[in-house]
Amino acid sequence: MKIIAGNWKMNGTRTALAEMLDAIAGVTTENRVILCVPFTMLRNGTDNVAIGAQDVSANVRGAYTGEVSGAMIAETGAKYVIVGHSERRMYHDETNDIVRAKAMRAIENGLTPIICVGETMEEKRAGKTFDIITDGVRESVPENVTDDIIIAYEPRWAIGAGITPTAQEIADAHKVIADTLGYMGLNGTPILYGASVNANNVADIVAIKNVDGVLVGGASLKPQEFVPIINNAK
Ligand code: PGA
Repeated sequence: MKIIAGNWKMNGTRTALAEMLDAIAGVTTENRVILCVPFTMLRNGTDNVAIGAQDVSANVRGAYTGEVSGAMIAETGAKYVIVGHSERRMYHDETNDIVRAKAMRAIENGLTPIICVGETMEEKRAGKTFDIITDGVRESVPENVTDDIIIAYEPRWAIGAGITPTAQEIADAHKVIADTLGYMGLNGTPILYGASVNANNVADIVAIKNVDGVLVGGASLKPQEFVPIINNAK
């Protein structure tokens, strides 16, 4: 069983989501499929797809115009929420501390956070990849967590770029994350790979050790691209 999570970012419509759910309804798979959609499209999942949000407020409630709380997301029937996606870190200056607070708000409301970590090209060139992802996991994962969480390794330089790291680079990064989680007493936490995943490369990627699934951006928007990803990931 692999976890196949789509991230629609700021794309799609409710009609497109209904069409995607219909297309996936016809798919027989052991994989766990999650679609993370904009707030306005949040809803109950179906028999074979769970719905997730792409962000959650770090605050519980109150005067935070424009923000959406964990309780509000949970009320829609959504079960997951991405926190600390590189686009949130880049455009909204989210730090590991903020990401940890958001993950806590998710957990408090029964949502499973998909916590993203990954290095920029500058950090990669400076040889800091392992430091960034180790600190990302240590500092973004809430302390003493006992509920389900998911980690996503997203090399930021490869997102939307149509390029992926080598299999060895993915294996090395996932081992560092798995070791860090083990050190924190969180053995068995699923670790997804995300950045430029498509129907052609997904089988090779999920075959890499410590890769428990994928987080898919652009290729999750159309059934004709996303359904083959679900089918090919085994
Ligand atoms: P991509 O995005 O698949 O379009 O590279 C991945 C992500 O941002 O989660």
